[in-house]
Amino acid sequence: MEEFLCTEDLCRHFGGVMATNKVCIDIEANGLRSIIGPNGAGKTTFINVVTGRLPASSGKVTFRGRDITNKPTHKLVKMGICRTFQITSIFQNLTVFENVRIAKQARLGGSLRVFSARKSLKAVTEQTWAILERLELQDLADQPAKNLAYGDQRVLEVAIALAGEPQILFLDEPTAGMSPAETQHISELIRGLADEISVVLVEHDMDLVMSISDVISVLHYGSIIAEGKPEEIQNNEMVREAYLGKEE
Ligand SMILES: Nc1ncnc2c1ncn2[C@@H]1O[C@H](COP(=O)(O)OP(=O)(O)OP(=O)(O)O)[C@@H](O)[C@H]1O
Ligand SMILES: [Mg+2]
Repeated sequence: MEEFLCTEDLCRHFGGVMATNKVCIDIEANGLRSIIGPNGAGKTTFINVVTGRLPASSGKVTFRGRDITNKPTHKLVKMGICRTFQITSIFQNLTVFENVRIAKQARLGGSLRVFSARKSLKAVTEQTWAILERLELQDLADQPAKNLAYGDQRVLEVAIALAGEPQILFLDEPTAGMSPAETQHISELIRGLADEISVVLVEHDMDLVMSISDVISVLHYGSIIAEGKPEEIQNNEMVREAYLGKEE
């Protein structure tokens, strides 16, 4: 099987803190990989390094066999490696439709030049609707983003990321601050996405992680201490100790 996204001994330190410590991970081309671990375990740092927001201190990231270590974010996005950027990526005064359309236009960009203006507009419009429907945002299409409930804003971020046609999408705590109903809704959407593309989820809600993940990787002090299916992780003694602290 062809390799998809892998890291080899990936490291990132901040002064003496090994935020990412020799991480070797092998992520599948589809499915839902969760990355869990106590606060400060290095989950966000790992995503930042892999998606080009922070340079690695050492080690390697490969995508489909190509070395992508320390490539700039915009190049990674073009290759299909995306993450959500929280509320900052939303234009609050534009409608839901316009927000996704702009992202879609940016993605299609130059490739539209060969078509007439009318044909390009049609392609962008159709693909924008397809994303809105996939994320069940179609009824909110005409609403300015600022009118959206918090949970719907976060779904809109995912829609904007999807407009970039990712092959792998990193989501760092997408349910943070959501109500139980909003959490339930976005988790169903995320599960649906993971059947088509690769989704890497950082999430603190253990019930959610255990119910929707295909594979879970556990980080502790920057290193992966366990990896496996939800039931394997749930029964793993090292994982319990990492979360609960070792009993003296
Ligand atoms: N920009 C930075 N400068 C210095 N230290 C940092 C920086 N970013 C992260 N760290 C440190 O690196 C370690 C890992 O942090 P990181 O944010 O990756 O953890 P996390 O697993 O995402 O935690 P949380 O669950 O709280 O979001 C922590 O000790 C943190 O203090
Ligand atoms: Mg974090």
